[in-house]
Amino acid sequence: MNPVSDNLPTLLVVDDEKNTRDGLRRYFEGKFDIYLASDVATAMNVLETEPVNVLLTDMRLMGGTEGLDLLVRAQSISPPPVCILMTAYGSEKVAVQAMKKGAYDYITKPLDLEKLDVVLTRALHSRRVETENRHLREELDKKFGLEKLIGNSPAMVEIYDRVRQVAPTKATVLIQGESGTGKELVAQSLHMLSPRKSARFVAVHCAALSPQLLESELFGHEKGSFTGATERRTGRFEEANHGTIFLDEIGEIDAATQVKLLRALGEQTVQRVGSNQSIKVDVRVVAATNKNLEALVREGKFRDDLFYRLDVVPIHLPPLRERREDIPLLINAFVQEFAKQNSKKITGLSTDALEALQHYDWPGNIRELRAALEHGVALCRGERLGVRDLPPRITGKSNDATGRLTPGETTSSSSSHLNLEAMEKNFIHQALRLTDGNVTESAKLLGISRRTLHRKIKAYQIKHS
Ligand SMILES: Nc1ncnc2c1ncn2[C@@H]1O[C@H](COP(=O)(O)OP(=O)(O)OP(=O)(O)O)[C@@H](O)[C@H]1O
Ligand SMILES: [Mg+2]
Repeated sequence: MNPVSDNLPTLLVVDDEKNTRDGLRRYFEGKFDIYLASDVATAMNVLETEPVNVLLTDMRLMGGTEGLDLLVRAQSISPPPVCILMTAYGSEKVAVQAMKKGAYDYITKPLDLEKLDVVLTRALHSRRVETENRHLREELDKKFGLEKLIGNSPAMVEIYDRVRQVAPTKATVLIQGESGTGKELVAQSLHMLSPRKSARFVAVHCAALSPQLLESELFGHEKGSFTGATERRTGRFEEANHGTIFLDEIGEIDAATQVKLLRALGEQTVQRVGSNQSIKVDVRVVAATNKNLEALVREGKFRDDLFYRLDVVPIHLPPLRERREDIPLLINAFVQEFAKQNSKKITGLSTDALEALQHYDWPGNIRELRAALEHGVALCRGERLGVRDLPPRITGKSNDATGRLTPGETTSSSSSHLNLEAMEKNFIHQALRLTDGNVTESAKLLGISRRTLHRKIKAYQIKHS
């Protein structure tokens, strides 16, 4: 196989005549990264291992119609290449059939190379539009999957494993962790990775409502069941039917609602306030709290029977200060996010800014880190985010409105910084994590060739399984 450069689109030429293969390679070199194959087996091997954008195949290989087989098989590759068929003059009828089987276009032999060039350019364009659409769809799909959770620390890796493991089940999950550690994100991931994902994820913030309103929020009420109940209302449990209900700040619910919740969980039914009719619901329950629920049980503030019902699978999210190794990854992600949002170009952080962020205690955890970087990006004037852009609470320095360098802050030329390479490394880490270390899949996710990815893994000394 031929060595390829990094950014050109890839073209696989399949033809059993060496002259044709060589001629096409000469003509399209420089415009495409070109792979050549003379038979279906070799072609499939390339398709399965390299991200091929365009497949150009002769219809007749070795005198048969294997070109058509290849075309059909190529459609099963994800993402499939755009397929263009070469046919002998006079066999256009078969070519039309091929198009029905998914070919993008066909061209007759003897080849008019200029015309082929136009066809290939058009094919590539259509591929790009398709890919963009697919990426958009995937983005939406991913929105609340595990992909949103950032961090490679052993503690987080353990959490991803547990989420993957329990998401498909109906087991009740109790997520505990300080404020801002990502409890809601984990709850959303549990839903998105479950067979329930096409039904609703309904979040109820239990602390925000008075006991009476919480009960009616959860279970619904009949018209006139209490002052203000002017209409009949379905509860959140019913809304979450076949989906997931997320009971946030579960430690805050009052004794009476705890009893009703216990019954609902045990019987898988709910009763609207003011009605004695039981309604069957099929709901997966995920609860979260930033309180120590066991301590509340010991203090008699939370029912132990309800605690055990909820705590079937416990997930403890560690505070950020106990997994500081994740801070750089999170910084990268948030800086990129806010730079993009504000149409700013920010290539990295000054060493001092980075150090300040690494050493701060983060009582508000990831939410606080995220807010600090939103603040930083908003104030940042150059391409590098410095200490003076960060909230003074974090740097322990007073904000200098004149923009002078505060003592200890170095000038940009002398400070090393978190740069694009670090971001790239981060992306590669994430891709490998998402694909369980599969290089081919990761390369596809990243939109680069496998070869390029291998080289980068080596260059950055990234460990993967
Ligand atoms: N591992 C993570 N990677 C990326 N972003 C995260 C991560 N964990 C949390 N965040 C972000 O931090 C913010 C807080 O997360 P979330 O609301 O899930 O926390 P929480 O534990 O529910 O907090 P609280 O107890 O205050 O409700 C959100 O903006 C979320 O997107
Ligand atoms: Mg929350």
